[in-house]
Amino acid sequence: MVGLDTSDDAAVYKLSPELAIIHTVDFFTPVVDDPYLFGQIAACNALSDIYAMGGKPLLALNIVGFPEDLVENVLPLVLKGGADKVIEAGAIIAGGHSIKTPEPVYGLSVLGAIHPDRVITNAGAKPGDVLILTKPLGTGVFTTAAKAGLIDSTTEKEAIEVMKTLNREASEAAVNAGVSAVTDITGFGLLGHAYEMASASEVTVKIKAEKVPVISGILEYAAMGLLPAGLYANRKYLEGKVELSKNVKEELVDVLFDPQTSGGLLISCPEQTAASLMKELENREIKGAAIIGRVEKKSASALVVE
Ligand code: CO
Ligand code: CO
Ligand code: CO
Repeated sequence: MVGLDTSDDAAVYKLSPELAIIHTVDFFTPVVDDPYLFGQIAACNALSDIYAMGGKPLLALNIVGFPEDLVENVLPLVLKGGADKVIEAGAIIAGGHSIKTPEPVYGLSVLGAIHPDRVITNAGAKPGDVLILTKPLGTGVFTTAAKAGLIDSTTEKEAIEVMKTLNREASEAAVNAGVSAVTDITGFGLLGHAYEMASASEVTVKIKAEKVPVISGILEYAAMGLLPAGLYANRKYLEGKVELSKNVKEELVDVLFDPQTSGGLLISCPEQTAASLMKELENREIKGAAIIGRVEKKSASALVVE
């Protein structure tokens, strides 16, 4: 039902008129020093693609690459962090595979389920829709600043909370509200994933930069030039594809391109649904969710930032 052609979050395969499976895989090198936390964040990030399709995770398999000298003391903590998040998601870890690598790598392949009629893709955004982002941006700038030893405790606390929060509540709220399209914000940043949604949906997406939630302190770190390599790559990839207003501050533009680890959901929903969905997100204690823009009929630029 969903494959490569729309750059969606996961593959979806229909087994019967009542049941489709969602399949995804995600892994990366450590984004924080604490191994237990790294496990939690990696699992949250991998599970997120199931939530972005509106599904429920059932089963996860560990993907592990680890240096021999860290296998005994560090790896068990990473695996525990991952397993705890999978359990929190109501799914189970049923095995996995590991190899020796020079640098630690961890992630999951996750299998989920959904009714075939209820699959939410990134291709359903409609002119007149409102766009909601459910987590603040800035985790890429955070990890870069942290590696440089330059992070303050408020920013750190907030960034870690963002990365280890499952998108389950946001996804359930979106499913219940009835939405047009969803994707999660990960490596390509807000603008990369918004561009994918605009292209797949054949619409123009307009983002109001000053409405986009950002983790506190991140704009200051961005202004200091603490930008991850992936941010430059995202900017380069979208060159000529996004119309950027000159009025948006440079550090905010950078953050809009910032690759996110375990970022929030970008939801496109009918205008009349937006207020009740925002209320529901608030009831579910999803802090930092905001209306950040709207969807219009396709024009010359697929993505406009003003
Ligand atoms: Co995704
Ligand atoms: Co993914
Ligand atoms: Co094996």
